[in-house]
Amino acid sequence: TTAPAIHRGLAGVVVDTTEISTVIPETNSLTYRGYPVQDLAAHRSFEEVAYLLWYGELPDAAQLREFQARERALRPLGRTTSELLARLPETCHPMDVLRTAVSFFGAEDPTEDDGSPAAHRAKSLTLLAKLPTVVAADQRRRRGLAPVPPDPGLGYAENFFHMCFGSVPAPEVVRCFETSLVLYAEHSFNASTFTARVVTSTLSDLYSAVTAAIGALKGPLHGGANEAVMHMLEEIGDPQRAAEWLDGALAAKRRIMGFGHRVYKHGDSRVPVMQEALDRLVARAADPETTRLATLHTALRNAMAGRKGIHPNLDYPAGLAYHLMGFDTPVFTPVFVMSRITGWTAHITEQLAHNALIRPLASYAGPDQRAVPAMAG
Ligand code: CMC
Repeated sequence: TTAPAIHRGLAGVVVDTTEISTVIPETNSLTYRGYPVQDLAAHRSFEEVAYLLWYGELPDAAQLREFQARERALRPLGRTTSELLARLPETCHPMDVLRTAVSFFGAEDPTEDDGSPAAHRAKSLTLLAKLPTVVAADQRRRRGLAPVPPDPGLGYAENFFHMCFGSVPAPEVVRCFETSLVLYAEHSFNASTFTARVVTSTLSDLYSAVTAAIGALKGPLHGGANEAVMHMLEEIGDPQRAAEWLDGALAAKRRIMGFGHRVYKHGDSRVPVMQEALDRLVARAADPETTRLATLHTALRNAMAGRKGIHPNLDYPAGLAYHLMGFDTPVFTPVFVMSRITGWTAHITEQLAHNALIRPLASYAGPDQRAVPAMAG
């Protein structure tokens, strides 16, 4: 018998259909429900994109108003959640805090998970609304500051700044942040989304699927890369050192964070839009420290193009952009969660709509069958 073909990392394997988004690597494009992500980032708010991913169509004015009102009302955390979060050690990563919070929301939610799209949308909206409140409170706690309660008068992006810093920056800065949220929202069967689908395929509940997805996103080969980009820039320090540092890192077989992609081999469709947003932030700040970081960022990208021909992915411009917006580095991946929660939950609903248990096979490579030896002595 011939050995079965093995697809390590499921590379190139198509496991199901989806109506939510598509990545077209040949043309470096990405669409959500048929709309190019670049156009959504330019013309629509993150809330409209969340609605689009969940309901399949963009909202009209009345639908958007109603959706926003519901989201804004759900933002505050209950007392028990706040108490729980305050007890977590400050040494743990903010992704651990978020993962614990989602697990706790699941334990606390008295409503039954009947698997219906309506029940899932209600739970998804709760998570969309509350996750930023958790992330912001956690960042402030680590800075020794009391939480700032959400402001129902502010949009999703503005309110996050308000809860993190007690103020909302200039509209251009908010817009750059919103662009990143739109670009991060959904990306087909990536590792964390697939994780959510695997958990859902056993008919487990939505909170369990999202908790698992957060665990998958945390790793540096996936969402953790946006944070790792910032650590790498700090490690290099001087723009003049970028090329030399890169040679050393590649010789040591290190992965260069924020570069490469399993699906896009000629560049990530989301990068040009995010790079433009980053350029606007850099131009606005125009101080020596921002200039140093931006010069280093460009130098490393150019050196990588010259050495390996590997293109940056979304995490490369997003990482530096979040730093320039004032967020602490460990908060970058939690911000990714605040956005990708929309894509994950859309996929959870879709998985259930035509579920098949996800259970692949393995080709055994261990010892041949053997007798269990008698216990010595
Ligand atoms: N740095 C150095 N070499 C790389 C990199 C990189 N970032 N990415 C790919 N390569 C090389 C790799 O060493 C291999 O070379 P060779 O064939 O000579 O051994 C070749 O390119 C193919 O790599 P691969 O690991 O087979 O490709 P993959 O499709 O499994 O990798 C990846 C995808 C994202 C895991 C990888 O590009 C990587 O580790 N990137 C760094 C982490 C990162 O930025 N992750 C974010 C991904 S996109 C957005 C997101 O999910 O947040």
